[in-house]
Amino acid sequence: MPMLKIFVGTMYGGALDVAEQVKPLFEEAGHEVAILENPTLDDLDAETTDLALFCVSTTGSGDYPGAFAPFANAIAEKSPGLGWLRYGLIALGDSSYGETFCGAGRQLDELLAGQGATRLGERLEVDAMETFMADDAALPWVEEWIDAQQLKVA
Ligand SMILES: Cc1cc2nc3c(=O)[nH]c(=O)nc-3n(C[C@H](O)[C@H](O)[C@H](O)COP(=O)(O)O)c2cc1C
Repeated sequence: MPMLKIFVGTMYGGALDVAEQVKPLFEEAGHEVAILENPTLDDLDAETTDLALFCVSTTGSGDYPGAFAPFANAIAEKSPGLGWLRYGLIALGDSSYGETFCGAGRQLDELLAGQGATRLGERLEVDAMETFMADDAALPWVEEWIDAQQLKVA
């Protein structure tokens, strides 16, 4: 079974909740799923990762949530080269923060692209001003994503 790793960056648990809610959709589509709440660079390994989904909220002024920051910083500093990586990205934010809306997710997307990784489909940005429970936006998006990217494994 292909391994899908869900890399979570959260302050208050919303992004983790999204990861837990979408996990069964990937399992039904034939993937083994691991949710990583405190990811390290070692987890981003071509041998053990067939596909990645990043669920990342924003804190501060466009900043990565606490436990996710060292992981993102390690990618930036060690520049591992991620040409093998295919990923999806769900960013959680709040548009009342203006310019820094979904800043962490957007920053991460740029960082991964800079390492040669390929994003499958568009990034989902969930706005807490519009969507009280991020799952309400994430679940249909993931269903659509699995279909559109043909991620169902026979
Ligand atoms: C102190 C604080 C700072 C925040 N800063 C931003 C921000 O700069 N940009 C943004 O889009 N959302 C910001 N948010 C909103 C959160 O990203 C949003 O509520 C998100 O759904 C939280 O997800 P989580 O439960 O996974 O931490 C901030 C929230 C808090 C409490």
